[in-house]
Amino acid sequence: MKTKPSYYITTPIYYVNAEPHLGHAYTSVMADVQARLRRAMGFDVLFLTGTDEHGEKVAKAAAEHNMTPQEWCDAQVPAFKTLLDLLNITNDDFIRTTQERHIQAVQKLWEVLKERGYLYKDTYDGWYCVPEETYFTETQVAHADEKRGQKGAHLCPDCGRPLERVQEESWFFKLSAFQEPLLKLYETNPHFIEPEIRRNEVVSFVKGGLKDLSVSRTSFDWGIPLPFAEKHITYVWFDALINYLTAAGFGSDSEEFAYRWPANAQLIGKDILRFHCVIWPAMLMAADIEVSDEVFVHGFLLMKDDKTGDETKMSKSLGNVITPQSVVDLIGVDGFRYFFMSNIKPGADGSISWDRMAQVYNTDLANSWGNLVSRTLNMSAKYFENKVPGPVAGWPDNSNPLKDIACGLVDRYTHALYTFAYDKALAEVFELIHAANHYIEEMEPWALAKSEETKPQLQEVILNLLEAIRIAALLLSPVMPQTSQEALQRFGQEGTESLVDKTLDEAVAWGNLLLEQPVVKGDALFPRLDINA
Ligand code: ME8
Ligand code: MG
Repeated sequence: MKTKPSYYITTPIYYVNAEPHLGHAYTSVMADVQARLRRAMGFDVLFLTGTDEHGEKVAKAAAEHNMTPQEWCDAQVPAFKTLLDLLNITNDDFIRTTQERHIQAVQKLWEVLKERGYLYKDTYDGWYCVPEETYFTETQVAHADEKRGQKGAHLCPDCGRPLERVQEESWFFKLSAFQEPLLKLYETNPHFIEPEIRRNEVVSFVKGGLKDLSVSRTSFDWGIPLPFAEKHITYVWFDALINYLTAAGFGSDSEEFAYRWPANAQLIGKDILRFHCVIWPAMLMAADIEVSDEVFVHGFLLMKDDKTGDETKMSKSLGNVITPQSVVDLIGVDGFRYFFMSNIKPGADGSISWDRMAQVYNTDLANSWGNLVSRTLNMSAKYFENKVPGPVAGWPDNSNPLKDIACGLVDRYTHALYTFAYDKALAEVFELIHAANHYIEEMEPWALAKSEETKPQLQEVILNLLEAIRIAALLLSPVMPQTSQEALQRFGQEGTESLVDKTLDEAVAWGNLLLEQPVVKGDALFPRLDINA
């Protein structure tokens, strides 16, 4: 019997044609923060990520390397798993579309859609972009070419690369039947697509009319065969989207599926908006399966040149790719996670540069947060015999500025995080951190330590500071798990992982500080970077 509520969150499954990069890392960290928070709040979490292995693009990459597609995928997948380890990502499952469980789920869905009358056979005659694995009509292509001033060039309307002319027998999905149901979905469930700017984009696209979609291919064979038409393989996007159902037990474990489905949050980048917000819900409706609660769409990471200030989309061909490892080498794993979660407005494009990363790390982590922890632990150790102080009259009931901020903080914080406003949630926690640093300056504990008379006051000040640090560390732990755990351990406090009988919101209540615990000062949590070096 499952007693906890389920929370099911997904990332896109990434193409294995090339190495994983910072964009993949960004989405995965975003999902990980949510998964960690939900676990700490008492949910039974299923956090899914994985790899998209079929299709023409992957088959071509394999051929270029003189490998079979399966050999190529097997050789590429470890790099994607290494990236998850590098960034301390706690996915519960890793799906590969070449796995048997997925092949079965896809074939099952084909049967359901056929039975329900949403498929028919015809010939596809039009354009196809292999890098984007997307079909385009003659009109779409002509329009985009003209807009670029390259009439007749037949370039991809999305990415600008040359298109392939495709003419083949194909099964079609009756996407056109879903224009009205989709518009109704967006209207009655406005949170289905977040943020609003993306919802508006999808609504106007769907209002423009939907064409039936070619969903099987016959001109190559790297894909999942249709159960009723052997020479046809599944169009890679039709195959890939179903991964979210596979991992929830669709077609294999009905009890698990009832518990997990619908997914609570599906994270994607804006490049794959239409697939997830138009085709995907239409597929589900056609199969009479509930649609997900929410698709959260983030923007692109843009690379800012520190010298010229120019911003460009990070891309391999432009040679401006920053590897996740090089960022970790500079600012550490938690620095990486903090930078991307606090400094890119979720949903908007975000500009990144080495200067900015180093600056944010030094200001927020080395100077504000790390410094608060080390100053306070030093004072506690120095004035209270290497311990957290013991009980003192009036504590924790007395009001003080830190307690005032901490009160209600967890509600403001979880509300922001639940709605993917990560930057706001972190700003809430940093308000407490800044106030605590300010409190030290104001209270001057070193002066209070000078006489026996002011010792009770000193004790209260240190307890307030340690309590503020404990609360901040717990709230920061979904974003910075390692350093938060380390900070809490240094003064004998429970971390989120050891909270067995409490949820995060209960744990952070003011006054839960464990008194008289041993204090270990330790090295700087975030060593300062010498920016001018
Ligand atoms: O599209 N900025 O895989 P993909 C931010 N296999 N995020 C970025 C990014 C950037 N510059 N570049 C990539 C596919 N991403 C399909 C998905 S899902 C059923 C199938 C992230 O390897 C972002 O999440 O091209 C984007 O949506 C995803 O990687 C695309 O990864
Ligand atoms: Mg892509």
